[in-house]
Amino acid sequence: MRIVTSPSEMLRMVKEARLRGESVGLVPTMGFFHAGHLSLMRAAREENDFVVVSLFVNPTQFGPQEDFRDYPRDLARDAQKAAEAGVDCIFHPRVEDMYPQPYLTYVVVEGVTEGLCGASRPGHFRGVATVVAKLFHIIPAHRAYFGLKDAQQVMVIRRLVEDLNFDIEVVACPTVREEDGLAMSSRNIYLEEEERRAATVLYRSLCLAEDMAARGERDASKVTAAMRELMASEPLVEPEYVEAVDWGMLKPVKRLQGEVLIAVAARVGKARLIDNLILDLRDEGGGR
Ligand code: PAJ
Repeated sequence: MRIVTSPSEMLRMVKEARLRGESVGLVPTMGFFHAGHLSLMRAAREENDFVVVSLFVNPTQFGPQEDFRDYPRDLARDAQKAAEAGVDCIFHPRVEDMYPQPYLTYVVVEGVTEGLCGASRPGHFRGVATVVAKLFHIIPAHRAYFGLKDAQQVMVIRRLVEDLNFDIEVVACPTVREEDGLAMSSRNIYLEEEERRAATVLYRSLCLAEDMAARGERDASKVTAAMRELMASEPLVEPEYVEAVDWGMLKPVKRLQGEVLIAVAARVGKARLIDNLILDLRDEGGGR
């Protein structure tokens, strides 16, 4: 497995792979790999001849008060895990090479970035859309793999690809969880022991929503109220949002119908955690 730092060298390698007739899969990451990242790499490995993982802690998607400096980094361990997953190449650029000064061009996806994490992290999705657009140019892949753990990010990337005519298939992969349901995240290492236990309430609140929907509840506010009540039972967990939105434009819904994204975000100690679930009620028909 090769580790490439230069964007121009990376582009040359991908062009050569394409000229050889190989299909190319890209897994964008910020590193500190866990089983969630590895599941994306394995999916990419199964479906493509040449697999590139980008590993770049992208400064433009962090707010000034956020954890860019503290974000966990361990290239040696990541390289070993990626090699074991059968990755062909890690693209690990330097900040100066991704954002040479002066840097003046950003990509803004509207609408789907306004609610949920977009509301509490101004500029975050501008940073994500910008770096992913750059990665799609540096690594012109056939397919790019993203995790549904970051469901809003998946929707932002889908819009980016559609609206700016990127010739790339966005593949969304399921959320990988710890045994007790906590969604895997590089930020889980910030959790103290008690916080780690309390953090499972995000997943438990999603399970509650799923149960209520399965029992026929269609009033979104009743479901989110019950989720909030459950989350309130964990004093170490400070909810940021608990919402039901349509899995498309990500606008709040009153009734559960069609495809609905139930999404939660909360602060637990030093960590900001998110989780979600997509309810598929399409076979009930709309508007009844
Ligand atoms: P990062 O947080 O490192 O995540 C990289 C990819 O792994 C994302 O697509 C994310 O959704 C996925 N992922 C994270 N946890 C997961 C889990 N528990 N199960 C399944 N997939 C999971 O997301 C980013 O980096 C950045 O915003 C990036 C897209 C790389 C742009 O900088």
